[in-house]
Amino acid sequence: MKKRAIAGIVDREVLDRLKREQGEVEERDQAPLSFHLIQRLFSFTAPYKRKMGWLMGLVLARALQMPVLAWAVGAIISGPVAQGDESALTWWVGGFLGFAIVTEITFAFRIKLALEIGEAVIRDVRAALFQHWLRLTMSYFNANPVGRLISRLTGDAENIRVGVQNVLFVSLVQVGQMLGCAIFMVLQDWVLFLLVLGMAPIVWVLNRYFRERLSKAYRQQSDSYSRITATMAESVSGIRVTQSFGRGEVNAGMFRDLVADHARINFVAARTSGTFLPLLELNGQLFMALLIVVGGWRVLNPEIAMPLGSMVQFFFLAGLFFSPITVLGNMFNEALTAMAGAEKVFAILDSEPEWEDPPDAVEIPGFQGRVEFRDVYFSYQPGRPVLRGIDFVAEPGQTVAIVGATGGGKSTLAGLAAKFYLPAAGVVQLDGIDTRRISGPWLHRHLAIVPQQNHLFGGTLLENIRLARPDATLEEVRDALRRLDCLDLFDALPQGLETGVGERGTALSLGQRQLACFARALLADPRILILDEATSAIDPITEKKTQEAMRRLLAGRTSFVVAHRLSTLRHADLVLVLDQGELVESGPPDELLERDDGRFRALWDEAGMAEL
Ligand SMILES: Nc1ncnc2c1ncn2[C@@H]1O[C@H](COP(=O)(O)OP(=O)(O)O)[C@@H](O)[C@H]1O
Ligand SMILES: [Mg+2]
Repeated sequence: MKKRAIAGIVDREVLDRLKREQGEVEERDQAPLSFHLIQRLFSFTAPYKRKMGWLMGLVLARALQMPVLAWAVGAIISGPVAQGDESALTWWVGGFLGFAIVTEITFAFRIKLALEIGEAVIRDVRAALFQHWLRLTMSYFNANPVGRLISRLTGDAENIRVGVQNVLFVSLVQVGQMLGCAIFMVLQDWVLFLLVLGMAPIVWVLNRYFRERLSKAYRQQSDSYSRITATMAESVSGIRVTQSFGRGEVNAGMFRDLVADHARINFVAARTSGTFLPLLELNGQLFMALLIVVGGWRVLNPEIAMPLGSMVQFFFLAGLFFSPITVLGNMFNEALTAMAGAEKVFAILDSEPEWEDPPDAVEIPGFQGRVEFRDVYFSYQPGRPVLRGIDFVAEPGQTVAIVGATGGGKSTLAGLAAKFYLPAAGVVQLDGIDTRRISGPWLHRHLAIVPQQNHLFGGTLLENIRLARPDATLEEVRDALRRLDCLDLFDALPQGLETGVGERGTALSLGQRQLACFARALLADPRILILDEATSAIDPITEKKTQEAMRRLLAGRTSFVVAHRLSTLRHADLVLVLDQGELVESGPPDELLERDDGRFRALWDEAGMAEL
């Protein structure tokens, strides 16, 4: 592959390097069979015991039926056909047809039951995964990009499903079929059977060789395919940047390269299977020829005088004996893939949340909203402290402005107050109680946050605002918007509050989305409110309009506001100035402004210049 390290194009080499740098091991696509994993996978079938019982019965029946049918064809030929007994022939053929129909009905039910069980198992696995994820803490989601989680839920779960649905049952049927055929063949003519047996390793080796090359080709195919879709997704979601920087031609050229590459890889895969299948067939023809020669000789030789019917039976039985070899090779492959999927999925189910509420977690009756940080340290990655020795007290109802350069730790501080993270050292107290001891779900009913990266779910505006309190009436929602002074703004939308927000909220402007998130937070009527650069995308005119309303709404709640507008800062009760994780100044704004060489004073002057 050519080296491509240009931004916006996903390159395997770049990806690999990134992975190595992040200390991530290359995820394997196949894993050895493990009894422990298989057992655990099948433990998911426990609720469907009865179905499993039926299925196993059908599997056994299938394994016997096929050889019996093959044997019957030979028996009919060497029996009634050879003897010209017409009435016996009718009975035999009738019986044969009857048995064949039963066989196919067994087949249909075998497939149906296996599909049902596989589908049920994977449904349970997916639900378990999702439920488990919701228990995990923020740090897990920081370390695991969403793409990886998606592939656990889709690709890996799919591989497990195929494994559960197919591998065991199909393999049992096939092995049974081989054994049954072998027994019939030995009974007929053990010399011919030895010939058949001698061919089996050749088919197996041929199979292994091509299978390995094919799976490598398929792997490259899927890699190159995901490169294409990733590039496409990136280009489309960044279409504005692409067009405005005139990158259209460049990106199109790269895309052509990627697609050409994909075509080449497809061709290799097709050529490999294009060689494999004819070779396998040729092998079959050679075998037939050999069987005719040896079998014919044994029929014609008066000393052996093998009946012609036996030879015909042999043809059918040998065919049935060989076809499972290819299928079993496939199954083996599917089993290894399912093992890798199971390994990854179970690793998630086994991952413990970094921390959990203690069993005696408390709720705070008559919650006031007093927030105290005492010598708080925090880091996302070991050895890289993000907050160092933070100390402050926010009294109930106070408005706390957090200011400082980007990357200073403002959002992190807010996250600690909201118990998204626990401090590495020191304590965060709400109403005098350590957040470690406070029930998370309870806290989150009394605390609302409008994060820096606000989020709207698919659905209408109304549904999104109601998220905080699903039982809120339309009037209550409208009232929240009215109190925010932005009801008219939303009513002016073509469908008002029923406007769909579109994928990731693209049907609304950034400012409108922020206001919607605002309304959502206020509807929850929380004791503590965190606004993390929540007004950054709202134009000054709208902001001025909503400002007075917002101040009224903030009154009576403890609120943390990350913002740099003078008007916000002026009305704060407490200002925290963060610089690279340290609290360099704190106090009421008026007091801080009096310090001539103060940090806040400098920020204030700069902001003043910017707003002039
Ligand atoms: N999820 C994360 N994983 C690792 N580091 C992070 C994460 N979030 C923030 N950081 C780092 O922590 C520091 C503070 O970030 P943040 O609190 O978002 O700053 P601010 O909100 O003041 O811009 C930055 O150096 C940032 O790189
Ligand atoms: Mg931030």
